[in-house]
Amino acid sequence: MMQLAGKTALITGAARGIGRAFAAAYVREGAQVAIADIDMDRGAETARELGTAARAVRMDVTDQASIDAAVAETVEAFGKIDILINNAALFTAAPIVEIDRADYARVFDINVAGTLFTMQAVARHMIDRGEGGTIINMASQAGRRGEPLVAVYCATKAAVISLTQSAGLDLIKHGINVNAISPGVVDGEHWDGVDAFFAKYENKAPGQKKREVGAGVPFGRMGTPDDLTGLAVFLATGAARYIVAQTYNVDGGQWMS
Ligand SMILES: NC(=O)c1ccc[n+]([C@@H]2O[C@H](COP(=O)([O-])OP(=O)(O)OC[C@H]3O[C@@H](n4cnc5c(N)ncnc54)[C@H](O)[C@@H]3O)[C@@H](O)[C@H]2O)c1
Repeated sequence: MMQLAGKTALITGAARGIGRAFAAAYVREGAQVAIADIDMDRGAETARELGTAARAVRMDVTDQASIDAAVAETVEAFGKIDILINNAALFTAAPIVEIDRADYARVFDINVAGTLFTMQAVARHMIDRGEGGTIINMASQAGRRGEPLVAVYCATKAAVISLTQSAGLDLIKHGINVNAISPGVVDGEHWDGVDAFFAKYENKAPGQKKREVGAGVPFGRMGTPDDLTGLAVFLATGAARYIVAQTYNVDGGQWMS
């Protein structure tokens, strides 16, 4: 049985990586999905690969007009939005004494303001419709504790966990369940970038940091985007209706709270 038949979803940053895997899983479960990304070439390619239930929508989560236009386009195309996944984010790293103010502002704008104001736009639609909905935010184990070199990204993901709690408590009265998924280390282009930062700051060979973190995961390897899709599907089903304002670790055993 398809678990999301008749549902529609907007997934930010779905052109590649984890967001793409969520979109593919949702399509497999019968949903229609807006692949909302700033990278329209890649978004259109992903939508083509996923078939007629997927549609590429241009969206820059740092631009309010773009958020509003993407939500309106998705509602126009699908008639409604039942599920939002706030997945778009950027990684950055630097020692405290080298953090650049413009880089800090750019990463907070995408990871925190982007999450908050996309939630707001979609929640307004869900409240107007009066049939509730599901919002899933992408946190990270980086939001559970600080890390040397990763202060800004860690702080953005701690903010996502906090926003999930506040929005979850505020929106449940409208039947909107807000929860978050906290991955550990998931291989892909994002982690290619993380690896490059560590190669620079810790003087490691390319690929070395990835091998080290993979070996440190209790499960025995880095995650794959598909390791996260089971929870993303479950949280969007009625079986998850009593789950409110929580953040779930899906990280091969790296973090326990
Ligand atoms: N990969 C990991 O190890 C890992 C671990 C923990 C949490 N996460 C989180 O999971 C989510 C997805 O990670 P990923 O590894 O797939 O990342 P990724 O870098 O592969 O993909 C991010 C996507 O977001 C899009 N994007 C960037 N800026 C945007 C903007 N302003 N507006 C709209 N879209 C924009 C990019 O074009 C890209 O398609 C992120 O929130 C990330 O922080 C990832």
